[in-house]
Amino acid sequence: MINTTNKVSLSQYNTFGIKATAKELIICNTIESIQEAISYLNNHPQPYLVLGGGSNILFRNDFDGLIIHPKLTNIEVLKEDEKNIWIEAGAGVEWDDLVDYCVNRGWYGLENLSYIPGNVGASPVQNIGAYGVEAKDTIETVKGYYISNGNSFKLSNDECHFAYRQSIFKSNLRNKTIISSVVFRLNKTESYTLNYGPVKEEVEKKGKVSLTNVRQTIIDIRKSKLPEPDELGNAGSFFKNPVIDIEQFKQLQSQHESIPNYPIDNIQVKVPAGWLIEQAGWKGKAIGDAAVHNKQALVLVNKGNASGKDILDLAHKIIDDVNKKFGITIEPEVNII
Ligand code: EPU
Repeated sequence: MINTTNKVSLSQYNTFGIKATAKELIICNTIESIQEAISYLNNHPQPYLVLGGGSNILFRNDFDGLIIHPKLTNIEVLKEDEKNIWIEAGAGVEWDDLVDYCVNRGWYGLENLSYIPGNVGASPVQNIGAYGVEAKDTIETVKGYYISNGNSFKLSNDECHFAYRQSIFKSNLRNKTIISSVVFRLNKTESYTLNYGPVKEEVEKKGKVSLTNVRQTIIDIRKSKLPEPDELGNAGSFFKNPVIDIEQFKQLQSQHESIPNYPIDNIQVKVPAGWLIEQAGWKGKAIGDAAVHNKQALVLVNKGNASGKDILDLAHKIIDDVNKKFGITIEPEVNII
């Protein structure tokens, strides 16, 4: 039997802490309950949203429809050989619990993604990434159900069309599936990615390069820059780092020598939006309770009672100013509902 909850507060379902409500909510603890939720939705057509940890979402208004919250929390070893181990994690597993689980067992691959808020089911959707590693580097398969007909799917890494903060679940399959689990292929032999910014240096300060030291270093770096959602509502990076062409970049560099940059290929360069926003004078600024974090300008925060609209109004002012100053249009990374 499917259990729906009516008129539900979404405060605990979005890390921005926006006080929105939804008309109905279904929590799915099992595969069967995912299938029941799909039939329920097809028998009661209405707007719907599949919501994981709510760590990358901004509610503009109350949601006049059904929220489906997958909460499958199993982690299972599927197979292993000398080099690799394949594990399947339910969509509702807390992302950082999965990283901790793998680090504790000596499996390499997820440690740079330590302390990212959210659930496993969301990791392929926006291909979460940090400190030189992206979810796509270890994801083998994504499993779930199509909402239109309830059929199951199993997509390989290639079929997920992963790119920077992008996947098929944000393009062709946007809002068309419920992800139930993700299969990761991890290394059993030592391998680290330490080439992002100060990571290597910070790990070595802790002594030997080891899985636990890498994890702790990443946690320390994140804690020093990024606000804890429990203390200050936020959804991590609010904007994506823009990719611009090399000619435009060279022109900018001639005016702003210190502009940080990550070359993508011979014709494109990624520029940190946090730097652009800081240079545009917005770091630490607030309009009412909607503010730009004072330690990382890429993060917008809710100082208490900001509405979704307050955050969006601030975002639009920032977008305009960055555009006026640099001729670059930065785009939100969070899902605006
Ligand atoms: N910077 C500034 N001012 C700021 C923030 C950053 O000048 O206020 C400069 C830094 O000095 C540095 C550069 O921008 O030279 C990059 O900063 P940082 O290493 O903090 O990373 P980011 O590009 O701002 C991205 C991800 C983060 C991820 C970090 C580390 C995106 C949209 N964001 O931020 O992801 O943790 O790299 O890999 O790609 C998230 O997606 O929610 C998230 C937090």
